[in-house]
Amino acid sequence: MILNIGDVVRERSSSPFASAWRVEGYLASGRHFRHYTVRNLMPDMDGHRAVLKVIKYDPRLTHDADYVRSLRARLRRECETLAHFSPRLPEPLDYFEIDNAQDQFEGFGAEQLRAQEPVLIQTLLHGASLAQQMEDRGAPPAPADTLLLTLAKVCGFLDELHAGGRGWLFWALSPEHIIVDPHQEHEPSFVGCSNFRMLSHGVVVDDPAAGVLNHPPEPGYAAPEALCRGRSDHRVDVYAMGCLLFHLFTGTDPRDLAEDILARGQYGAHGSWDGDFEASDASPQPMSHGQAQAFCEELRSSMERFCRRNLKGLGISRARVRRMLLKAVRPDPDDRFQSPLELRDSLLATLSRSRPVAWPDPAIDS
Ligand SMILES: Nc1ncnc2c1ncn2[C@@H]1O[C@H](COP(=O)(O)OP(=O)(O)OP(=O)(O)O)[C@@H](O)[C@H]1O
Ligand SMILES: [Mg+2]
Repeated sequence: MILNIGDVVRERSSSPFASAWRVEGYLASGRHFRHYTVRNLMPDMDGHRAVLKVIKYDPRLTHDADYVRSLRARLRRECETLAHFSPRLPEPLDYFEIDNAQDQFEGFGAEQLRAQEPVLIQTLLHGASLAQQMEDRGAPPAPADTLLLTLAKVCGFLDELHAGGRGWLFWALSPEHIIVDPHQEHEPSFVGCSNFRMLSHGVVVDDPAAGVLNHPPEPGYAAPEALCRGRSDHRVDVYAMGCLLFHLFTGTDPRDLAEDILARGQYGAHGSWDGDFEASDASPQPMSHGQAQAFCEELRSSMERFCRRNLKGLGISRARVRRMLLKAVRPDPDDRFQSPLELRDSLLATLSRSRPVAWPDPAIDS
């Protein structure tokens, strides 16, 4: 496992990585990657700051070369996808294979795996993820009208992503993956693109070579058709937008509600989404179609109850927000908003009816 990539690369001062970049400090981690801020050491780069992305291995699985290779494929995929999509996503700046003495790979080929640890440098995005902002400030993390406008912009980005003969799904849309500038000087941008799925004739295609990518997504933000690995299209992202609205305006993570429902065991055991995906005894399994529909129906009812008690937001019609999000998370995709642009129209209509209110002052939110 990489414990401290900063130490690893500093030791190798003659490597191309270490002569070009200096690791400054830790930035953030998700499920598969760990991020550090780095500074460019090249004379003409003026100490330009960027992000170093490294793989976070599960130490229980480093004996499994397929596991290691599939995570590496995921990092490479991220690099390729970023090259395709800038400027709303970070730009890939550099890609190195470093000798990582801290990796504890075992078995045949371990030496080679250790010597070829891939690391990616990408641009540092302005702002903080909506997840971080909720952690820092609670929910909603910004005035309701600002949030509605941000979400409308996210819908615009999703539409761009879905469009074209070779469209993509975001697939893993969640507050961790949306980076927003609290000062509103930069447009929202996105991370998590190693999860993107390709659309073929409007329907998501599984990539047999994608390894860990082919597991069903974690329940909560995932639409039922994704949970049962059924025919999925761009409306999976509309579903996630409904979850995001719920999460931002109630402060309750739909993944936590989902976990509570699954803990009751009614929908069978579907494995664990904690830690890394490949733990063989607990890797996530798809639900049946019927289970996924019933599960998402129950989750939606739970969200509806939470909305009645906990929906917050100054100066907006909370009834409209509730209706909007409950429509977006309908289990049957035909019952949802049919596109991000349809949801965006609804967000903008709600915004036009909202009245500006000083923020934060929960006392007047009645
Ligand atoms: N280029 C960047 N600029 C600023 N922050 C970033 C950048 N890349 C990642 N981050 C931070 O790291 C967090 C996790 O990023 P990311 O989702 O890419 O990793 P992950 O969750 O391990 O991967 P995955 O979602 O593919 O499993 C983000 O929420 C964000 O806070
Ligand atoms: Mg992530």
